[in-house]
Formats: sequence, C-alpha cells, structure tokens
Amino acid sequence: MTISQKINGIFPAESEIPGEARILPLEQKDYLLDGKIRAWLGPVHEVLSPVSLRGKNGLERKRLGSYPLMTEKEALEALDAAVKAYDEGKGRWPTLSVEARAAHVEEFVYRMKEKRAEIVNLLMWEIGKSLEDSRKEFDRTVEYIVDTVNALKDLDRTSSRLSITQGVIAQIKRAPLGVVLCMGPYNYPLNETFTTLIPAILMGNTVVFKPPKYGVLLHRPLLEAFRDSFPKGVVNTLYGAGREIIGPVMKTGKVDVLAFIGSSKVADILKQQHPKPHRLRCVLGLDAKNAGIILPDADIDLAVSESLTGALSYNGQRCTALKILFVHRSVLKEFTKKLVTAIENVKLGMPWEPEVKITPLPEDEKIPYLAEIITDAKKHGAKVINESGGLANGNFVYPAVIYPVNKKMRLWREEQFGPVIPVAPFDNIKEPLKYVVDSNFGQQVSVFGRDMDKIAAMLDTLVNQVCRVNINSQCQRGPDIFPFTGRKDSAEGTLSVSDALRVFSIRTLVAAKDSDANKKLIRDILRNRKSKFLSTDFIL
Ligand code: G3H
Repeated sequence: MTISQKINGIFPAESEIPGEARILPLEQKDYLLDGKIRAWLGPVHEVLSPVSLRGKNGLERKRLGSYPLMTEKEALEALDAAVKAYDEGKGRWPTLSVEARAAHVEEFVYRMKEKRAEIVNLLMWEIGKSLEDSRKEFDRTVEYIVDTVNALKDLDRTSSRLSITQGVIAQIKRAPLGVVLCMGPYNYPLNETFTTLIPAILMGNTVVFKPPKYGVLLHRPLLEAFRDSFPKGVVNTLYGAGREIIGPVMKTGKVDVLAFIGSSKVADILKQQHPKPHRLRCVLGLDAKNAGIILPDADIDLAVSESLTGALSYNGQRCTALKILFVHRSVLKEFTKKLVTAIENVKLGMPWEPEVKITPLPEDEKIPYLAEIITDAKKHGAKVINESGGLANGNFVYPAVIYPVNKKMRLWREEQFGPVIPVAPFDNIKEPLKYVVDSNFGQQVSVFGRDMDKIAAMLDTLVNQVCRVNINSQCQRGPDIFPFTGRKDSAEGTLSVSDALRVFSIRTLVAAKDSDANKKLIRDILRNRKSKFLSTDFIL
C-alpha cells in the first residue's frame, strides 16, 4: 500500500475500535467550587476527538461529550473560594504543618491511581496521544507527585533547625505565596497542569485551575478525589473560554501567582491584566524552537534516530521538540536520505494501535496552518523531500521534511508545533550558532558530533543562549528532577521536582536577638508546639 493510500484509509469504522479503547460520551455537568461539586445548568462545550470515524455519511469526528462553558460570575466565585481558603495566610491550609499537607496530597495520589484506566483513555481520545504515551504521561505524573512530596519532606527536614549567627537566632523556612491560577497546555494536559498545581498546593497555596482547551474531560474523574482530599476552597476548577473567564480573574488583582504553560502572547496579555503586575509571581513555560545541529563528524544513524523522535514524538507537539535541523553540507545527502527512509518506517494510525507514532492532531486550525507554512516555504525555494509529506486527511497530517529552509521562510522562525521538519544546510558552524543567538527563543539545543574540541567550544557558547544543551541526544524536559526552564520568550521561572517547591513559596524567617528572655520564649514555643512555623519537629 502506498503512503497516500494509507493516509486516505487512516480512520476506522466504529466497529473496528478494539473493546478496551471504546469510549462512551462523558457529559460533564458539574464543577468543583469551595469544597462542593456543584451542578452546572448553563451552556456546554461539545468535545470532539481528533479521531474521525468512517460511517455512512463519510468521515465524522467522534463525539466525546461536553463540559461546562462557565462565565465571569463562576470564575470570580472560584477565585473568591480560593481567596477565602487562603484567608490572608490565616486559613487552615496555609497554616497546616508540612507533614499534614503531604498526607493530604498522598491521599489524593492514592485516589488518582484508581482512575488510571479512565483518565488514560480520555487523554488518548481527547488529544490523540498514543495509548503508550498517554500511559506514560499518567505514570510520570504520579511519579512526579510522589517525588515532590518526598522533596518537600526533605526540605522541611533541612529547615527544621535553628541557626544562630551574629547574635541573632533564626528559623528560616519557605512560606506560601497565596492564590495560584494554574493553566496547563493541551499537549500534556494532565502532566503539565499537575507539575504546577501539586507543588503549589503542597507549599500551602490555594488554587484555581483551568484545564487547557483540549484535554478537559480527562480531569473529571478526579473531581471527587480533589473534593475529598483537601479542605474546601483549596482546589477550585474552571472550564470554558479563557478569554471570557481568565481576564476578569486577573483583573481583580487577587491572583498572587500565575502558573501558565502556553504561548508568550497569551502570557503577556494575562500579566498585563493584573492591576499590580509587580505583585504577581509568574511561573511560565512558553514558546520554543529548539534547533538540532548536525556536525560533519556526527554519527549519522544516531543523529537521524534522535532527530526523528525529537521532531516527531507526539506529532511534534512538544515544546521541547526539535523544530529546525541544521545539517552540515558534507553530510546533508546521507542525513536527509536516512531521515526520509526513517519517516517511511514510522507507524501511522489511531492512538490505540500498538507502536503507533503519528496520530491525528487535536487543533483544527493546525491543519490549514501547517499547509500554509509549507506553501510559504515552497514559495521561497524549498521542497517537500519525502513522499506524501504534508498530506492531510481530516485532522491527520503526514510528516513533511522541508528542504532547504532559509531565513525568508516562516518555518525559519515560527514554532510549527506539528509534524513538519525544516532542514537547513550550513557550511560554517557560525551559521547555526548565529541562528540560536538571533532567535526569540532560548529553551534547548541538540548538538550531534564527536570532536571533543568542537563540541566543547560550542557548549561554552550555547549554554549562555539556552538552558539545556543536549549532546548527541534529542531535546527533552525529563528526567523531572532536572531543571526545566528557558531564556528570552521561552520561560519564566524554573521547574523541576525541587525547583517547583521553591517557585511557589518564599523564604521567610522568624528571628530574635540572642537574649535570655528571647531564648526562653523560643524554647517555650518549641517545647509546647505552639507554632506550626517556629517548630523543630522532624518528619520521619
Ligand atoms: O511540551 C513541553 C514538555 O514539557 C516537554 O516535555 O520533553 O518530556 O516531552 P518532554
């Protein structure tokens, strides 16, 4: 079968869906507000899967259900519930001991694990992520939560001692910041929402969270676990159009921390809506266009396989994806030939199929956008060099390798976030280095080569341009204990298991001059366990 025949027949009939992947519509008509799951009687948003099914009337998108389209009123109620639960830092949650907060999160993760199959199936259907990757996303999230709880316990242990310096006795700990607005992206709707939401809660903040545009229903199975695991108002959910509900929330000035993974354009709008932007802490994961640089002495087979997964995992819809490849002209022919062959061997299909790599895309507007940037590249002299590259059927787009890419093309600078691989030839290493320097983005880069002197010289230049230089390896966020951040338009703040606990808290100390009276007072508070903060209790 030719590639185009495969693409034309990519979508199955309902009867061809294997039993374990079948799904019934989920009509979500409720939301979590101030510790109660409330009924929603208002308008709803219809959820369609990126997967179409073949029926009597041709292809039809699979309907997955619906979720509430909330308004400004409910958004402000959710915010008020979080504000009330924080109660200017006097609320039950922000004053609870670290040990008790950790126990609440442990209860939550226990309940979350019971919902694995349901959440994974929804994740797969809502965003078209392969079953294997959907499972990975769930398991990675659970692991992240467990590691974060352990990191918090460690942090608490190390800050449980008092220090005496220059005649001042002090206990230094980390205190919460207030109300956090959490918004994750559609490509990791569970993982990237929870990598901010969980550390934010653990540090004693209260949260309003809005799932991304795609990947909403998968959060529904967790509403009861959120309700039962945390005091009322600690976690509140919002659904609907960001433009309608998030603007009013930001304009109140009651959000203390904005945790947002998405575009820098939207982040700028949200920040500016806050009446006192200097009070707003931001934890942002934004745009990126990571480059892969293939040097003349690179192991080409390795460079091809890393570039392939780097550019095409989850159809290129990862902020860390390799979004442009610079290939030295001396190895260009070999590299592109092997890359094209590797793409031909990649499995296309439906997300539940074993080993499938290329699946339908959730964003409807992405399909014409990808066609547009390919046309633009062609207009400026590039060609699609792989068979059927860019061919679409419904929301399915076959990967396209575009060569030679130059600075006149949109693909040179725009983050395509999809299965399009731009290849740019170079003669002098200064050319890709200049690209990285001139780029608006500064997340990561991958360098493929073997020469110690050349690689070392490049590293020393690149580490001051991006935040992770990968040697003979694709760009990626993990392992999650490593810092994940970026320069320029790519990020604000650093996330990792331990860094996230820091960004959602502030160092705060209780200090006293070293006098007998103060020593006695501190000793009495400690012995009688009168304070949650000033305490030498140790979590075992
Ligand atoms: O979309 C951006 C993600 O943080 C990337 O994570 O490199 O583990 O896929 P990943």
